[in-house]
Amino acid sequence: SDDEVVNITYITRDGTHKKVRGKVGDNAMYLAHRYDIEVEGACEASLACCTCHVYVDEEYFDKIPEPKEEEEDMLDMAPVLKPNSRLSCQIILKKDLEGITLTLPRITRNFYVDGHVPEPH
Ligand code: FES
Repeated sequence: SDDEVVNITYITRDGTHKKVRGKVGDNAMYLAHRYDIEVEGACEASLACCTCHVYVDEEYFDKIPEPKEEEEDMLDMAPVLKPNSRLSCQIILKKDLEGITLTLPRITRNFYVDGHVPEPH
């Protein structure tokens, strides 16, 4: 039903805005995968990587439950960490996230390890 719909926009690495209809209970990382949006997820949501890193709209940031300690630890390893950084596999859609935008970082840990140098903060 429409009560369950949560509209979400992903801004991809090339700046494209991809609007997706999710629903309450969807995981923001797996939802992106379903629409071929290039959020990585090397550890399949087990909080053992930081490749699913995204930036959350400031206005929605506080509506997402605080990160667990494991998420904080993983985020510390993400290149170009920002105050609004989260791991998308830990974002579960709920009604008050209607209209949220998640922005993919320009680089993730995998690229970094492969030898790309992160942009300066
Ligand atoms: Fe590894 Fe999200 S997919 S922490």
